[in-house]
Order: sequence, then C-alpha cells, then structure tokens
Amino acid sequence: MTDAHAIDSLGWERRTFVPSDAFRSNALVSDHSLYDEASQDSTAFWAKQARELISWSKEWHTASEWNLPFAKWFVGGELNVSYNCLDRHVLAGRGDKVAFHFEGEPGDTRTVTYAQLLDETQRFANVLKGLGVVKGDRVNIYMPMIPEAAIAMLACARIGAAHSVVFGGFSAISLTDRINDAEAKVLITADGGWRRGEIFPLKHTADEALLGTSTITDVVVVRRGGNEITMHDGRDHWYHELMAQADPVCPPEPMDSEQLLFLLYTSGTTGKPKGIMHTSGGYLTQAAFTHKYVFDLHADTDVYWCTADVGWITGHTYIVYGPLANGATQVMYEGVPNFPGNDRMWQIVEKYGVTLFYTAPTAIRTFMKWGDHEPAKHDLSSLRLLGSVGEPINPEAWMWYHEHIGGSTCPIVDTWWQTETGAIMISPLPGVTTTKPGSATFGLPGIGTELVDESGEHVERGGGYLTLTQPWPAMLRGIWGDPDRYRETYWSRFPGRYFAGDGAKLDDDGYLWLLGRVDDVMNVSGHRISTTEVESALVSHPSVCEAAVVGALDATTGQAIIAYVTLRGGFEGDEQALRNHVAVEIGSIAKPKAIYFTPDLPKTRSGKIMRRLLRDVAEGRNLGDTSTLADASVVNELQRRAAEAPAED
Ligand code: PRX
Repeated sequence: MTDAHAIDSLGWERRTFVPSDAFRSNALVSDHSLYDEASQDSTAFWAKQARELISWSKEWHTASEWNLPFAKWFVGGELNVSYNCLDRHVLAGRGDKVAFHFEGEPGDTRTVTYAQLLDETQRFANVLKGLGVVKGDRVNIYMPMIPEAAIAMLACARIGAAHSVVFGGFSAISLTDRINDAEAKVLITADGGWRRGEIFPLKHTADEALLGTSTITDVVVVRRGGNEITMHDGRDHWYHELMAQADPVCPPEPMDSEQLLFLLYTSGTTGKPKGIMHTSGGYLTQAAFTHKYVFDLHADTDVYWCTADVGWITGHTYIVYGPLANGATQVMYEGVPNFPGNDRMWQIVEKYGVTLFYTAPTAIRTFMKWGDHEPAKHDLSSLRLLGSVGEPINPEAWMWYHEHIGGSTCPIVDTWWQTETGAIMISPLPGVTTTKPGSATFGLPGIGTELVDESGEHVERGGGYLTLTQPWPAMLRGIWGDPDRYRETYWSRFPGRYFAGDGAKLDDDGYLWLLGRVDDVMNVSGHRISTTEVESALVSHPSVCEAAVVGALDATTGQAIIAYVTLRGGFEGDEQALRNHVAVEIGSIAKPKAIYFTPDLPKTRSGKIMRRLLRDVAEGRNLGDTSTLADASVVNELQRRAAEAPAED
C-alpha cells in the first residue's frame, strides 16, 4: 500500500522567521511552558486543559483510558457541547457579542450574536425533538455555508443526536450512500445556495438522493436560494415554519463525555468512504485548546475567519466547535473567492477588520495567480496572524502569503491534521516557534509524533512515515459500523502506533516537513479523494472496461486527478461524458482534470496496475514532454516497459 516515491528528497528551505517582539509581547504563549508541562505528563496536561477550557456538569473520574486502538477521554464526565459553545457565553453577559458576521455571496449580510445563536439553536433542538429525533439518532445535514448549518449542528449536539454533514458539492449518489451508512432519520437541507452568481439546487439533489434511502422520515428545508422546489407532503417542512411554532426553551441535557457528537465521511484507500466517529468531551477540549493557542485567540478583540466549508472537518472544528467554545467572533462567507471579483476575500477582510485568517494552500496559489494587485486594492492591516491547512504549503506560496497578505509581519501557522485527528496536531505556536516556509514545524504540546522507516524503526533525520505515538483527546473513536477496518487502516501498519498515511521529513533542526500521502489517496485542493473511488465511478460507465486514476502534481490544486481508461469494444471515448459521469457518481470535486484513452494499462506480471508509472507519465518524469500524453502509443510504450519491469507487489 505504501509507496516510497512519496518520500522523495526535497531541497531544504533555509529561511527562518522568528516571532516578532510586537507579536510575542501580546501573545497568549511566548515561552516553552506548555511544551514542558505536556512533556512531564501529557494526560495531566490535557486534563488541565479540559478543566480550564470546558464547562462540565459532572467531573470525570479517569482522564484517559487506552485499550489500543480504542480510546476514551474524561471518562465518567458529563457536558453539553452546545452549552459550552453558547449558553455559558450568554450567561457570562456576552450575549450581545457577535458570533457570526455572515456575508452571503450576493452581498446580503446578517449579524448573529451569541444570544441569537442560542435562541435559534434551542428552537431548532425542539424542532428536531418534535420530529422524533432522540439521543443517539443520526441527522444528516446538506447545506450551503449559512448560519443555519451551524445552528443545525449545535441543535443536534444539544439533544445528543449525532450529525453527519455532507459537503454541498457532493452528488445525490454520495448523499444516498452516506445517509444509508449512517441510517439517518432526518435530513436538513436548503432550497439552494449561492455559488459564482448562481443557485446550486441542493433540495433538488437531496430529493434525488432520497429515492435511494429508507431511513429518512422528515426533511427540513431552509429557504436560502429562493429557487423553485418541490415539497413532499408529510415528509418535507420549511425551517421557518417549524421554527415559528417551536418552543424557545430547550435545556441543555448533560451528555456523557464519550457521547457520539458526529460522523464525518472521508475517503480512504478503498471505494467506500469511512464514517469517522468523533465524540464530545475530548474532541471539544482539543478543538478549543488548539483554536485558542495556535491562533493566539484574543476573543474580545479578534475577528477570525476560516474559509473552509462546514462540510469538511476544518469547518466542524474551526468554524463551529473550536471558535464557538472559545466565544470568538468570526466571519462566515457563503460563496466563491472570485465573485463578483478576484478581490472578494480581501474586500471581506477589510470590511470586517479580520485579524486571524485561516485558508488552504490551493487558495493561496490561486490568489497568487490572480496577481498581487488584488490584495493591494484593500487595507489588510487588521490582519495579525495567518493559517494554512489541508496540504503541504510550498515555500513560494508561504512567502507570497507572508508578504502580500500578511504585510511581512504576520506569523504563519501551517497546521497539519486530518479528519481522523479531529483537531490540529502539528503546528507552530505563533509566539514561540521560529517558522520555516513550508514546514509545519513540531507536534503541539500533548501530541506524540514519530517518523519511522519501512520497518517501523525510528527515523532521526531525513524521510519517513508519519506516525502518532500516543492517544490524543480529539482522536477518532472508530469507523462507523466497522471496528475491524478502523484497526486495520490506522493501527496495523506500524503496531502500537497510529499511521497517518503521510510521508514527512525531519531536517537537521528537527523540523517536520510534510510531503503528502503515501497511499492511494489524492489531495485535490486540500480535499481527500481516493483513486479507487474515482476508478469505481469510471468503471460504472457503460463505455468503460478498466480505469486507473492517479494524482499528479498540479501547480494550483496540489494534485490533479488524471485518469487512464480502456474502453469496451464498440465504444468511442468521450472525455466530457466521463467527467460528467464522475460528477454524478461522486461530485464535481472528483472530476478528472484529464482522461487518456488507452488500449491497455501498464500492469505488473501479477496484474496490478502500475500507478507509480502512470504518475511518472502524468508528471512528465522520464518521458520528457507531457504534451505527448494524449497519444495512446505513449501508454503502449509504458505497457511494454511495465512488462519488462520486475514484478512489483
Ligand atoms: O495529507 C495530509 C493533508 O491532508 C490530509 C488530511 O485530509 P483531511 O482529512 O481531508 O483533512 C484536511 C484538513 C485537516 C493529511 O493526511 N494535510 C492536511 N494539513 C496539512 C496536510 N499536509 C501537509 N501540511 C498540512 N498542513
């Protein structure tokens, strides 16, 4: 499964950036105390954070229980996650504080205070109860980036139902699969949302998805797009109608620390997405801790903006749970970064005086492409810290971000983590760590990281496989319905350790440099897509006999999906039709950038497709100019070379 190719050599980047005195003098942490404390006793360290950052209705009796690979945190403790995100701020007199400055893509705005968010969440929790949702049920959420998405999640948390948010860009089939796997009872969606000046018709897609499900009894529809939709009598309800009749009071019921908070589906190396399970007390503790210290949050004065969608883990942890638990004020933006112009993001930063900005390298590279003059049109001097997440950030993009967005003064936190880790694991602490462009630097306090070689031996310097050596509070608790797959996927490659699937390198100063996935998972614009999933989608088209998919380096999206397809006899290759087919099967994020038709695929003698060779082809290695690729005879040539190569299993 692993591929040493991913642990290629990398030219060392030697520039360093020391936190400025101005930043340090006001930073929450400016010395090594947190690291020192955590290295003494990491469980005690996390227990202290849980006490300081979270309100518990019942104290736990055991901070951590570890039966490899199953962890429990704050065992016996009780809390309500929505109480932590809402009530306690309102009770402390901060009800008028802005939780969300919402900016719709068409330019409409809404200001949502903590008191309003609490009010809507309570009402919606009662709506869910009225629809028969009880503790332990699953609720699916398929929404645009609007405050109601956060309200829906918090309302589930309030009553102990687990949410399963499906990114609005996923297709009907993907939604069907996720609803069926979770056996969700209720679906919360919207008529449509705004994207690049047009409505994307979520309800229409949801209707299609529901044709293939049997567990959903009710659908709640938020009016956002104003587009025409069909409401199914008895099943579908308008959000605003239910809310108008809902009881405004829903007391926060205490939940066990290990109560399932949510499922979030992510791609693995097989065709079937995994329902990653996250629970309450440990997850919220690490979400709040990392959000506070990695972003150096000064909740009274900062305006924080994370550009992710709530459909991804970054949206869960760093739009909903972390920032709200910390009482932050944030910006929520509905649309794309280039509507109506390429400076929309910078216009929003200026408008709201954003101080902390968190985005993905793919976005940064796109902004670079659009030109320095776009951010230069706006006053970005409110910014004091920048973050990056989702894929390795190349030093050029880091430097551009630093200079053109950060005014050469903002520290940059390059944060490594995963859907499975639940919260940031490797990152600088901005008032402490000297950064190097392109390095995520070090494991955070309380996190154990270790690079190992193929046989699991410790790597002191150079390349290796990234593993995590000890349980952490926000770690996944399993894969929904499949404990064996959980053990097999994460805990079997290097016994006793969690294998993240990423390659990394350690430089002479002990800095970690993430190098990307070493398995068959692609990372396209910071989103994980499995090669197998796209291959299965392609093969389900009547014209396709066999397909091989690889992620090839791409200057903007990190990796791009390249497909090699052999056709069934009698069919003509239609690239556009196949790309559309993948969009229908999975979602448009999984559309291959290019599809090459070939009479055969390069295989080992044992019949395994040589993806590594295809990636070499796609990236132009050994074969010179990639423009010759469309010519199938190139792949024929590859086929011959593959036949001559020693068997590779
Ligand atoms: O390969 C790593 C990459 O994204 C993967 C996790 O993807 P996902 O679960 O979708 O979560 C993305 C948002 C947390 C990782 O296995 N990745 C994430 N952050 C970084 C990164 N690679 C390098 N540097 C990062 N900062």
